[in-house]
Amino acid sequence: MASVKKLQDAPVEGKRVLVRVDFNVPLDGDVVTDDTRIRAALPTIQYLVDHKAKVVLMSHLGRPAGEGFEAKFSLAPAAARLAELIDAPVSFASDTVGPEAHKLVEALGDGEIVLLENLRFDKGEKKNDVAFCEKLAELGDLYVNDAFGTAHRAHASTAGVAALLPAYAGFLMQKEVETLSGMLENPRRPFVAILGGSKVSDKVGVIDALIDKADTIIIGGGMCYTFLLAQGKTVGTSLKEEDWVERAAQMLAKAKDKGVEILLPVDTVVADAFAPDARTETVSCDAIPADMMGLDIGPETEKLYAAAIAQGKTVFWNGPMGVFEMDAFAHGTKAVAEAVAANTDAATIIGGGDSVAAVNKFGLADQMTFISTGGGASMELVQGLPLPGVVALEED
Ligand code: 3PG
Repeated sequence: MASVKKLQDAPVEGKRVLVRVDFNVPLDGDVVTDDTRIRAALPTIQYLVDHKAKVVLMSHLGRPAGEGFEAKFSLAPAAARLAELIDAPVSFASDTVGPEAHKLVEALGDGEIVLLENLRFDKGEKKNDVAFCEKLAELGDLYVNDAFGTAHRAHASTAGVAALLPAYAGFLMQKEVETLSGMLENPRRPFVAILGGSKVSDKVGVIDALIDKADTIIIGGGMCYTFLLAQGKTVGTSLKEEDWVERAAQMLAKAKDKGVEILLPVDTVVADAFAPDARTETVSCDAIPADMMGLDIGPETEKLYAAAIAQGKTVFWNGPMGVFEMDAFAHGTKAVAEAVAANTDAATIIGGGDSVAAVNKFGLADQMTFISTGGGASMELVQGLPLPGVVALEED
């Protein structure tokens, strides 16, 4: 990450530092149910506190309409949780760029923190509106972006405002980009990529990009049935994307040409309905019954995948192997999570989204080398797409 300006090089003492964090966290009423993203921003916030900056935090939460305040998308619970985690007062502005925000920012002493209300209550945020960027810029002398999870969005707080203030990457942003870029540019080999999730159409760019980088690609989740179709198999009532069968076949051919091994399931847990109490059986992928749908990988596939994962020196995982939210179809995802955790010789990198939820569900998070806080952002980075939030921090 040589070309972006870094927080440790910023003269922050006594300055108002406007920090974009990704506090887009799940809430149950006014309780934060998963504070991973708040914890992930603590090193940057604590550094600014320790270096006597006046810390002005801003974030979005959810997808409000952009027509003003909506209680269920308020960031107030995140301010309360941050105060607990950092063990210091965090004031909360009930507006974003309005009079209260200005009043609280002006009142900040060195090392004190304020969090602004949800950026997306103003439609100028997602539009990267110039006037909204200017209003944000009035609240800081310097700008720091630590919101890797939102770095794939060209919004006012992630892109536009960076052109108006001296702009730096926070520690989380640096770590995310260094880890994921390092994995792609200079992986220890063998490099094993595990890709799951429901749709080929969502992952095609990622699979294609990883065929150029990885040694072995393991495929599971709903999308594996489209790959099985591409191999000429039948998949019963499993999720399938007929329009993507040809593309899946092309990817299999490309991998073969490049000598990249692609592993597909050899057996699968099928069910007579998409329901936790459905009738299930385990069948070979050569004999999926016409009236059953595959909802998880089977035990032979688990063994095959675990053996391949054990060989890796770099292991990247994005996407579950089955419908892991239902216990009846969680076994394959759990087996893969355990195999990744067991490979202590490898750099094990979890690429955001559902795989993070899976690793947390199975209590294996602390056994992974790195867990990305960005789902969409990490997928775009892996595809080699420029992230507007990172590009905005690049040195001239
Ligand atoms: C995320 O959760 O992926 C980020 O916070 C971005 O949120 P968005 O998809 O609503 O832009």
